[in-house]
Amino acid sequence: MIFDTHAHYDDEAFDQDRDELLNSMNENGIINIVNVGADIRSSGNSIALAERYDYIYAAVGVHPSDTAGITEDDLEQIQVWTKEEKVVAIGEIGLDYYYKEPEKEIQRKWFVKQLELAKSCGLPVIIHSREAANETFEILKSYGDKISGGVIHCYSYSPELAKEYVKMGYYIGIGGVVTFKNAKKLKETVEACPLDSIVLETDCPYLSPEPNRGKRNSSLNLPYVVSEIARLKKVSDAEVIERTYRNALDLYHIHPAKNNKN
Ligand code: NI
Repeated sequence: MIFDTHAHYDDEAFDQDRDELLNSMNENGIINIVNVGADIRSSGNSIALAERYDYIYAAVGVHPSDTAGITEDDLEQIQVWTKEEKVVAIGEIGLDYYYKEPEKEIQRKWFVKQLELAKSCGLPVIIHSREAANETFEILKSYGDKISGGVIHCYSYSPELAKEYVKMGYYIGIGGVVTFKNAKKLKETVEACPLDSIVLETDCPYLSPEPNRGKRNSSLNLPYVVSEIARLKKVSDAEVIERTYRNALDLYHIHPAKNNKN
């Protein structure tokens, strides 16, 4: 009953064996996946995957690092897609100041425009935020409960800030990084946050957990992430799987009765 809340199976890293891999998920306990868009093309490809596979859902949006070339027409396209039945979130959107480009002002502009879209269509948001802790937090805080919840994906900031996000109703996305020996801050974040605020994610093909660090990632590696969270929270693997599954349904407003595997 594992729910991968953040994957990129449209990535070319899966071109050789995509269908074979996606056909093997359910028998390996991966029950649902949200494939997340990072630009217009991958958002469209995410919807195509959701149409092909019953158990896959899609998120549509433009990643901060891809905002340089986007237009109002693109934004309109995203808005049209939000009406598709299997589109469950706007994302991934946010701020990434790790790289100098695009300029902060451009990233901010499109982050806010996509938040406005999320506000008007009532979908939750998938937030990508790197080296932009304060600004991301201030912007999301200014929206308060006008946004229908969301997840701070690949969370990389302090345990204290995570608790603030949890108070605001956001989920904290935990993936392969938590298994890395040097991920002290992230392990502390998992200890500090209630299990009811954590969701599992891969961000595949990136960020494979130990012992597969450096290799292509897939949802099949999530049991390693589950075990590390279970160790940190002093609960069983089964409990982590069950509760994060419920959290993911709640995050994406997926009604269990409507979900094909429930
Ligand atoms: Ni991603």
